[in-house]
Amino acid sequence: MTRTALIMAACLAALASPAPAQNSPPNGTITSNDTASVSVSALTDSILRVRVVKTGSEAPEDASWAVSSAVRGKSVKVRRVPGGFQTGSLSVRIDPATLRLTVADLEGRTIVDDVSGSMSFEGSRFTLRKAMPTGEQYYGLGDKTGPFNRRGASYVNWTTDAWGFDRATDPIYKSIPFYIATGGPGGAYGLFLDNTWRSAFDFGHRDQNVLEISADGGPIDYYVVAGPTVADVVRRYTDLTGKAPLPPRWGLGYQQSRYSYMNATEVREIANRLRADRIPTDVIWLDIDFQDRNRPFSTNTKTFPDLKELARDVGKDGFKLVAITDLHIAHAPNEGYAPYDSGIAGDHFLKNPDGSLYVAPVWPGPSVFPDFTRKASRDWWGGLYKPFVDDGIAGFWNDMNEPAIFETPTKTMPLETVHRIDDDGFAPRTANHSEVHNVYGMENGRATYEGLLKLRPNVRPFVMTRAMFAGGQKFAVTWTGDNNSTWDHLKLAVQQMLNLGLSGVAWSGADIPGFIGGASPELATRWYEIAAFTPIYRGHAANDAPRAEPWIDGPEHLAIRRRYIGERYRLMPYLYAVAEQNARTGDPFMRPTFYDYPELAKAPCDQSMAFTLGRDLLVAPSPKPESTYAYNVCMPGPGWFDYWSGLPVLGERKPDAPFEVVRETPTLDRLPVFVRGGAIVPRQPLTQTTSVMPNGPLELHVYPGQDCSGQLYWDDGVSIRGDSLRQTVRCTLGKDGIMLHFDKREGSFRPWWKQIAVTVHGWTGPAKVRGVAGVETDAERRTVRFVIPDQKRASDFVLSRF
Ligand code: NOJ
Repeated sequence: MTRTALIMAACLAALASPAPAQNSPPNGTITSNDTASVSVSALTDSILRVRVVKTGSEAPEDASWAVSSAVRGKSVKVRRVPGGFQTGSLSVRIDPATLRLTVADLEGRTIVDDVSGSMSFEGSRFTLRKAMPTGEQYYGLGDKTGPFNRRGASYVNWTTDAWGFDRATDPIYKSIPFYIATGGPGGAYGLFLDNTWRSAFDFGHRDQNVLEISADGGPIDYYVVAGPTVADVVRRYTDLTGKAPLPPRWGLGYQQSRYSYMNATEVREIANRLRADRIPTDVIWLDIDFQDRNRPFSTNTKTFPDLKELARDVGKDGFKLVAITDLHIAHAPNEGYAPYDSGIAGDHFLKNPDGSLYVAPVWPGPSVFPDFTRKASRDWWGGLYKPFVDDGIAGFWNDMNEPAIFETPTKTMPLETVHRIDDDGFAPRTANHSEVHNVYGMENGRATYEGLLKLRPNVRPFVMTRAMFAGGQKFAVTWTGDNNSTWDHLKLAVQQMLNLGLSGVAWSGADIPGFIGGASPELATRWYEIAAFTPIYRGHAANDAPRAEPWIDGPEHLAIRRRYIGERYRLMPYLYAVAEQNARTGDPFMRPTFYDYPELAKAPCDQSMAFTLGRDLLVAPSPKPESTYAYNVCMPGPGWFDYWSGLPVLGERKPDAPFEVVRETPTLDRLPVFVRGGAIVPRQPLTQTTSVMPNGPLELHVYPGQDCSGQLYWDDGVSIRGDSLRQTVRCTLGKDGIMLHFDKREGSFRPWWKQIAVTVHGWTGPAKVRGVAGVETDAERRTVRFVIPDQKRASDFVLSRF
């Protein structure tokens, strides 16, 4: 613990007494009255930590599964003002009589404020109450369903196996007690309740102007993350809970799954068909039926006689295999089942309160459950991956880790189940399932991630998890679980992924074309189109659903799907740069339109399905994806381009409106995608897998406009430590032409391209580039194209009409 944290803890304990008092450690303030003691400390100028201790109770330990001790230990010195303090950007006041906490910006605009009766206690339960200014909107809370903007809804955080969930189902798989408010007087802010117990967020559902945050137990420990923009909040929230590491590049490719490909022959057939049909693909997934009697870390050697050979063979054709490894270990004493035997020998499984082993049914039948909050058990779990890694399995899937238990109405373990806790700031102790439930799945993902890192220290682990707590993005990507093949689920999937991105989890996907029920050909095709622009691009369907591979609905649908999957591969240099940006900054891959363009928040279009991929691409499916009626797309200002034709978009714009409106009439083969004027988008020639070198130059598409720039980032796609390259390309518009400027390249990675083919869009008339031969213009497409050698150094190219 840092010195400041120690002072805070000491003061908190001392002040848990009835006499109203205020105390002033260097980084904040501690205020107490006969109800509680409230400590507010500044981690940074924009992040406050608030800890409340009920009068007469013991201060909880300074520990967290989500925020590392290094981050919790951060502090900035504050400036004392009457009733509170100021940081470099926030003003904090706390009323000693009522303990009402008000956070404002330095101009006095309220960011977040308590309402009267700001906190109450009932046994171990607590409730906090915040004001909901008119017009403020709420996002985040991970994968939760319901309305995209959470105002008016209420939610419970309790990770739950939610097979066949719908828009009204709550809770579902993840518990991320973090929301972002935007549209209030002081700009956007985020609030993260760092409490793992069952908690609830009510956004004005019970009382329309009151946001209630409650939990069944555990510490009152929350962070206020100030903006003023939503992007500021997401970046700072991921400073707090961790950035997602850059996944291997193949994780951005198309992935083909099914519950289950039943034998090695079927996997080979799927691989052959994908290649024969020219459907670019990187991954084939092995679901539970590849195992012996559904036992994790086993293989059914009758149906998969040689996993290593299979991985090698499909690997030659550019496929990776990802295998499921559920956390429930079969309860199989004396059967030579190594995960059970070694787990028992190391005392790695959860117990009942009487000390006996906790055994409950899941896929393998009676099962036992690793004690993931215990370091030794996580290390043991991580080691179980060795044979599979040695066999060449590239990635792993942690499913059912809410944890799901069969044959019980609660769908999970009894709350008295005993876990052990021994790090992350927690004193070694036992904890019951009420406390651990919500982090259990995340710690499963962590154990897998850390285990894989140990086995291959310089290879980026690829882990997919279903359950997650705040901060889970550090260990695994995720998907939205067992969705349905319906149009509403397609819409829900987009909104879930957007809210996940705002909750720090940029890497998510939804099963295409829905896990349950079978999709109509039109729904499946539309799903393939939209998902091509979402983070994880995976086809998956249930064992009792009709086949759902891309070719299943005949050549016309396949042709469209192939085109969109191919487009994803052509866009790989752009996608990869956005991915790397996420790893560095926390900016999601897929973003609500207001993330980069706050002016769109008030635009008169239904944007409930629209999103941006990075800042430069606006993907705009119909807000009623099943409908054939025309709809409006709002674009931030003039000067955007149609991604497919490359032509400037001619929208309608009211005088002074900061947006432009374009009307789209849906056709099945077109997903409207637009490019920001001012974007420079790198693309590459089509490949069938990310593991082969594209044949031809890197393509740079220049869409002239304001703030004209693009990013190149490339590396070997798998190593954690290794060379990379990063380069900014800019353009400036002059009267007679355009100057294209390459900044000096950082990093020494040698990319696959030797040449760069530049296409400038929106060009009319003749064109000349000084020092470059073979400049081609296309009057119909309004482009100029020229090819130049790769540019490592700073360089300029002037495109002019004369
Ligand atoms: C539940 C998962 O959500 C689903 O994707 C998977 O196919 C089945 N379990 C079987 O492993």
